[in-house]
Amino acid sequence: MIPENAGPAAVIVLAAGAGTRMKSRTPKILHEIGGLSMVGHALRAARSIAPQRLAIVVRHERDLVAGHVSALDPDAVIVDQDDVPGTGRAVEAALHALHADEDLAGTVVVTYGDVPLLSGELLKELVATHEREGNAVTVLTAVLDDAAGYGRILRGEDGSVTGIREHKDASEAEKLIREVNSGIYAFDAAVLREALAKVTTDNAQGEKYLTDVLGLAREAGGRVAAVVTADRWQVEGANDRVQLAALGAELNRRTVETWMRAGVTVVDPSTTWIDSSVTLDEDVRLLPNTQLHGTTTVARDAVVGPDTTLTDVEVGEGATVVRTHGSGSVIGPRAAVGPFTYLRPGTVLGEKGKIGAFYETKNVTIGRGSKLSHLGYAGDAEIGEDTNIGCGNITANYDGEKKHRTVIGSGVRTGSNTVFVAPVTVGDGAYSGAGAVIRKDVPAGALALSIAAQRNTEGWVPAHRPGTRSAELAQAATNDSSSTPASTEEGK
Ligand code: UD1
Ligand code: MG
Repeated sequence: MIPENAGPAAVIVLAAGAGTRMKSRTPKILHEIGGLSMVGHALRAARSIAPQRLAIVVRHERDLVAGHVSALDPDAVIVDQDDVPGTGRAVEAALHALHADEDLAGTVVVTYGDVPLLSGELLKELVATHEREGNAVTVLTAVLDDAAGYGRILRGEDGSVTGIREHKDASEAEKLIREVNSGIYAFDAAVLREALAKVTTDNAQGEKYLTDVLGLAREAGGRVAAVVTADRWQVEGANDRVQLAALGAELNRRTVETWMRAGVTVVDPSTTWIDSSVTLDEDVRLLPNTQLHGTTTVARDAVVGPDTTLTDVEVGEGATVVRTHGSGSVIGPRAAVGPFTYLRPGTVLGEKGKIGAFYETKNVTIGRGSKLSHLGYAGDAEIGEDTNIGCGNITANYDGEKKHRTVIGSGVRTGSNTVFVAPVTVGDGAYSGAGAVIRKDVPAGALALSIAAQRNTEGWVPAHRPGTRSAELAQAATNDSSSTPASTEEGK
């Protein structure tokens, strides 16, 4: 039984082609734009119309493509095409695999795996028109300035669609037609099944053309119609890397525009790249040269950029992230990161915390209000609240074989250039002196000093580096200050 409001009976995604012009070891449809493979975009559009069944036809680099598809969409039926070439054969294989040889009724949609900008909305419109008009076939078409290579839409005197002629089979007159077949269609299942049985390979390419179904459907008395889209990008395929980049840029332009209309300020749309999987709140500000990838989310009033790349990062409300390269991290509300900061996976910065300039962090939890302001590395560590980590501090987490943890409490103040030799624990409210090398746990409230006393050997430079500029200046300074008391031998 077909549930009410269900989508079409099936969507068939064609993806058996070789994609040789990509010149790549990666199958064409696995190349990405907007952070998702082309076939990923195709599957997403297909799923958005809630088909009862979804099949994808594969052949070239079969295992790589099938593995990728199954990971993205475990319910997709993978269909192998045999040696008979052509889009008609591909659809025939899919119908067979869906056990649709007899019982499949209703609408079958055909799309391509390499047309990444096709939207669910346009597919919905295609299906709605098809079903409303009671068509046998409805083809999605576009009118192009340069139609070379495409199948041309043939129309009768009354304007109705009579068929499709492939470029290689077209007469000179037919080649002047600028309305082209996108390769995306809605078919009545029974019409499709019956027509495909009659399609031959008797054409310029020796292939079983899906396009022949239109003429056959019409001959059988069915109504054949077209939905003409004015948005050529939605029917454009990527055959080489030039087209891939153009489609990627257009997808990004659309994504950025969508976010601007949703209340995000984007200072420079042309240098702002946002994956289709990213989510942004109202009143986020994105400064130039910002790239947001993966599952990145940015909450209200946060400012990201300039020159920032975030992958799978959660940015809290009102946070600022300046000139930062980050992945797999959480930046708390009103926290500050950057400039020149490298956040590696597992970094969790608490509310109002700070990771400042020239810091690298990894697998570290930093409590509310704690600051790591300048120059250092914090890895495999846990830092409490309201702790101030001095300039140049480092967690020495690696003993050459294993990683160890550093645990630093709340309200701690560490001197510049403190090194924590992990595993080590520093209690709440403890202090460390500048240059301390913390090898032993520091109890709460203690001051940790590990430095040897400083010794000044007076006159060492003139004695050991005679004739140098340093010796000369030292001599002059000593003469000048001969009236002032000599400095102490021992530091404190
Ligand atoms: C096809 C259409 C043409 C249309 C054009 C739009 C036919 C006969 N022609 O031409 O009218 O204007 O697309 O781009 O349908 N595929 C398979 N198995 C095959 C052959 C192709 O799965 O045996 C898949 C490809 O992976 C691709 C799609 O079908 O996703 C189209 O194949 P392609 O070779 O690009 O068809 P065109 O000759 O460009
Ligand atoms: Mg093509």
